[in-house]
Amino acid sequence: MKDSIDLVNKSITDFKIDNSAALEQFRIKFLGSKSEIKSLFSELKSVPNDQKKEIGKLLNDLRIFAEETYENHKSKLETISSVKSDVDFSRPGESIQTGAHHPISTVKNEIVEIFNRIGYIVSEGPEIEDDWHNFSALNFPKEHPARDMQDTFFVEKGEREMALRTHTSSVQVRVMENTNPPIRTISPGRVYRNEAISARAHCFFHQVEGLFIDKNVSFADLKQTLLYFAQEMFGEKAQIRMRPSYFPFTEPSAEVDVSCTICNSKGCNVCKYTGWLEILGCGMVDPNVLEASGIDSKIYSGFAFGMGVERITQLKYKVNDLRMYSENDIRFLKQFTPTL
Ligand code: DAH
Repeated sequence: MKDSIDLVNKSITDFKIDNSAALEQFRIKFLGSKSEIKSLFSELKSVPNDQKKEIGKLLNDLRIFAEETYENHKSKLETISSVKSDVDFSRPGESIQTGAHHPISTVKNEIVEIFNRIGYIVSEGPEIEDDWHNFSALNFPKEHPARDMQDTFFVEKGEREMALRTHTSSVQVRVMENTNPPIRTISPGRVYRNEAISARAHCFFHQVEGLFIDKNVSFADLKQTLLYFAQEMFGEKAQIRMRPSYFPFTEPSAEVDVSCTICNSKGCNVCKYTGWLEILGCGMVDPNVLEASGIDSKIYSGFAFGMGVERITQLKYKVNDLRMYSENDIRFLKQFTPTL
């Protein structure tokens, strides 16, 4: 009898219950009216009296073991099925949080792409620049105010006095020193000036510099290139006008205005009722600048231009406070999140 109890005990332990059909088979086999345990109980009558107590207890324990095994598996299977039924396939999906490009990056990339389409390639230079590349090679006289501490951040690098570049024109020099013409290049980057921070001025901002050097390049080529840029950037109705100006590194030099995209040149507070907005400086590269970088000014000529990325972004997105671009206010940045 004891052996039979042990056998049943083992088959309860070995019984695999991994679904409700197996659970029902288990119930019939060990707990039903014709179960193995029931038939063992009916054999108890024939057990000698002195062993009845002991065998009876073993049988009871066996029954309890079978019942507990059954209940355990039953509740396990119920939990699994209730988890499954919680999945509601008709629920709307949760939207994915996307990041955004900073508007300055977006506009910078757009400017670069516009010039890429007419063969300009990107070049870059260091933000900590020496006097030669930022000033001297660009024909700045020794006493030019931009060389003053009040306008420029100077830094010491080892023994050398360096400056945080005040414009991306320094990259022009580096490209001309290292490349033989023809040159068609666009140089985006960050620049620094010693200015008090306000809505209209900042101590760092971004520029894109352009440079074209070849034989027989004329002012007409410059004008056509900038008109192409303005129309790609601000729409095909955009017009440009050039005003004579002065930069040490170009001769002649001009400042370029684009027709006001906000009021269609009718006059508004952004264009100060003139119908025009200033967007960049440009000119024909001064022969002194070509020579300083080792380019023969009798064979080659060229034009250069430089624009502020914040300025163009301001006009595109109507952001009037320069400080917004670097404050990292999530409410500002979120407005530039692309919609999926
Ligand atoms: N470097 C000038 C500035 O920071 C912008 C500029 C003007 C760049 C005329 C040029 C240029 O290449 O030809 O204000």
